[in-house]
Amino acid sequence: MTRHFLDLSDAGTDALAAMLNDAIERKRIRTGWPKGLHDDDTPLRGRVLAMVFEKNSTRTRVSFDIAMRQLGGTALVLDAGTTQLGRGETIADTARVLSRMVDAIMIRTDDHAKIEELAHYASVPVINGLTDQSHPCQIMADLQTVIEHGKALPGLEIAWLGDGNNVLSSIVEAAGLMHFNVRIAVPEGYDPDPRYFDRAREQGAQITLTRNPAEAVSGADVVVTDTWVSMGQADSAAKIAAMTPYQVNPPLLAGAKADTLFLHCLPAHRGEEVTDAVIDGPRSVVWDEAENRIHAQKSVLRWVFGQL
Ligand code: CP
Ligand code: NVA
Repeated sequence: MTRHFLDLSDAGTDALAAMLNDAIERKRIRTGWPKGLHDDDTPLRGRVLAMVFEKNSTRTRVSFDIAMRQLGGTALVLDAGTTQLGRGETIADTARVLSRMVDAIMIRTDDHAKIEELAHYASVPVINGLTDQSHPCQIMADLQTVIEHGKALPGLEIAWLGDGNNVLSSIVEAAGLMHFNVRIAVPEGYDPDPRYFDRAREQGAQITLTRNPAEAVSGADVVVTDTWVSMGQADSAAKIAAMTPYQVNPPLLAGAKADTLFLHCLPAHRGEEVTDAVIDGPRSVVWDEAENRIHAQKSVLRWVFGQL
């Protein structure tokens, strides 16, 4: 059966653990190597990944490209606006054609239903490179970063501040699968997707929701935020005003554990959801997190090809 990675649950707990171990080990082996040099075993030799973008990207685009090169394969970028998809060719027909030409498809789009439709009609693996609903590849890199900085996932207390968005949904999904807890502080009207929330709770994760940022951060092992206005959302003054008390700044971070880690998927809007003092400060691991997109995605790629 074709393996798709539309959400973290497609892989499940055991596979996610294997992928995280693989990412950490592959990264360790090639420490200090030139980035264009391939891994010794080139496990995806001869494979081609098509990357379809209906939204902007820096990290996802570059990290998938470099990941494929390091694994011995190649990748090509399709800016949806310059393809026939952008002129109305159906997702089903695009899936059928790409499946004859490439070995896997990564897509960044808006409506999650589109990626499900693509996976339905594709006969090669489809990977979610972000939808309005979730961002699973990002969370693989986040979990890798947390583990590499010495924190075990089970029982971990992660605080989320700001908007109840796609990145948060994947963190909540990961909490259920990898047995950690999430304290969410978001303003009223911006709550996270209840589907992920309810499932993680059924799996035993403690997912709490508060309007009080200090309460969420108190004693947290990891503090996470993201842009207040995601791609495709309206940039309203009312939303920014509602989000302002949820900014991650030094006084707020002081309430977390002394060795807390600060994560942000980037791009950051400095002075909005996070201040310079935090993102450039000693608790911030955002550059490791960004680099880990390469390593984590190599394991996602190996998993969809049945190698993990
Ligand atoms: N974090 C992330 O997905 O970044 P890009 O939008 O640059 O891909
Ligand atoms: N929540 C953000 C993440 C960007 C990587 C967005 O969807 O724009």
